[in-house]
Amino acid sequence: MTVADTHANAPSAPAFPQDRTCPYAPPPGYPAPETHGAVSRMRLYDGSEIWAVTGHAEARALLIDPRFSADRRNPSFPVVVPRTEDQASVETPLIGVDDPRHARQRRMLISRFSLKNVAALRPLIQRTVDDLVDAMLAAGPGAELVSAYALPVPSMVICSLLGVPYADHEFFESTSRELITAPTADEARAARQKLYDYLDGLVETKRGQDAAGPGLLDDLVAERLADGQVDRAELVMMAMVLLVAGHETTANMIALGTYTLLEHPDQLAALRAEPELMPGAVEELLRYLSIADGLVRVATEDVELGGQTIRAGEGVLLPTSVVNRDATVYERPGTLDVRRSARHHIAFGFGVHQCLGQNLARAEMEIALSTLIARIPTLRLAVAPDEVPIKPGGTLQGLFSLPVTW
Ligand code: HEM
Repeated sequence: MTVADTHANAPSAPAFPQDRTCPYAPPPGYPAPETHGAVSRMRLYDGSEIWAVTGHAEARALLIDPRFSADRRNPSFPVVVPRTEDQASVETPLIGVDDPRHARQRRMLISRFSLKNVAALRPLIQRTVDDLVDAMLAAGPGAELVSAYALPVPSMVICSLLGVPYADHEFFESTSRELITAPTADEARAARQKLYDYLDGLVETKRGQDAAGPGLLDDLVAERLADGQVDRAELVMMAMVLLVAGHETTANMIALGTYTLLEHPDQLAALRAEPELMPGAVEELLRYLSIADGLVRVATEDVELGGQTIRAGEGVLLPTSVVNRDATVYERPGTLDVRRSARHHIAFGFGVHQCLGQNLARAEMEIALSTLIARIPTLRLAVAPDEVPIKPGGTLQGLFSLPVTW
C-alpha cells in the first residue's frame, strides 16, 4: 500500500485522466472546487489515489512552493499514465528537475526566449505563416489544417531557433508524438531513444563544424559543451525537451484555437472587426483550452493546503482546465470572451517552471490566428463539429486533424 492509498476517502474519487467530450472544456467528470473543494482526490489507472488541486489560489500557491518537487527521478514522483512508469530512470532536464540544477539549465537558455529576441523572430514567423497560407489557397479550397498549418508553423520556427534542419521534420514530429502519446513505457522509451540518437548525431555534426551556426544548439555546443558547463547527455536531453515542447504545444493551440473560434462566431467576428483584440484573445484561448491539462508534483515535506494536509511523499495533480475555470477568479468561466482579462491563468504553469517558451508561443499564436482569419475570411469547418477527432485525456489536449474549407 502506498502513502497515497491510506487517504482513500471514497471509492468514487473521479478518475484521471478522462477524455474531453467537448474539445475545449474540461472532462465533465473532473472534480471542481465548488463541488469537491479546492483540494480533493482523484484515482489513477493503477487504482492508487492522488491529491487533485483545482482551486486557483491553491494551485498558484503550490506551484511557487519549493516543498513541492518536479523531480521525476524521485521514486515517489507520481506515475499518472503508464508511459511514464520508467521516468525515474532518466533525467528530464528543465521541466523534470528542481533548483539549483533546474535554474542552471534554464539560465543557459532564457535569453533566447526573451521578449526582445522573440520580437526579432516575428518577421520570420510572419513569413512562415504567409507562405503556408499561400500554399493552402493555391491547393484549395479545402485543407487539413493541422498538417497544412498548425504543425508546420511552430515546427519551422523552433527548427530555426534551435538550429535543427527542418528537412528532418517528418521524423522528429512523428517520433515526438510517439513519445508523448505512447500507451506503454516501453514504447515511450523506444521513441525517446530514437530522438536521443538523432539529436546526439546533430550535436556531433555541430561539434565538427569550423564556424558555429546561428542556432541555440550551436551556441550551447560552442560555448557550454566546449568548456564543460554542460555534459553531452544533458545537452542532448535539453535539446529534446526544447524540440518536443517547442512544436507540439503551440500546434495544438493553433488548431484547437481555430476550431474554438469557428465554434464561437460572435467572438470571431469581434476579432475580425478589431484585430487589436488578438493578444487578449490568445490569453483567453490559453485559459479556455488549457491544453497541458495535468501538471504533476510530489510533496517533499508535509504541507497544509486548502484545508488538507498533504504528506511528504504524496503526489499532487493540477488539472489546469479546471483551475483556469475557477469561478471565484473568472466571471462566467465557461464562456469564451476575447475581451476579458484572462491574466493569471496557469496554462503556462506558474513559478520557477513557468513555460520557458511562452513569449514565443504567444507570438506564434497571435500571428498564425490573425493571419488565418484575415486572409481566409470565409474559413469554416468541412465536417460536423463533433466529427473532429479529439486527442485522448492524459496527453497534450488538441485535435488529431481539422478539416476546413472556404
Ligand atoms: C501554447 C503553447 C505552450 C503551452 C500551453 C505550454 C505549456 C507549458 C506548461 C504548462 C509548462 C509548465 C509545466 C510544469 O510546471 O510542470 C511549460 C514548461 C515548459 N515549456 Fe511550454 N508551453 C507551450 C509552448 C512552449 C514552447 C514554444 C516552448 C519552446 C521551446 C516551450 C518550452 C517549455 C520548457 C522548456 C518548459 C520547462 C520550463 C522549466 O521547467 O523551467 N513551451 N510549458
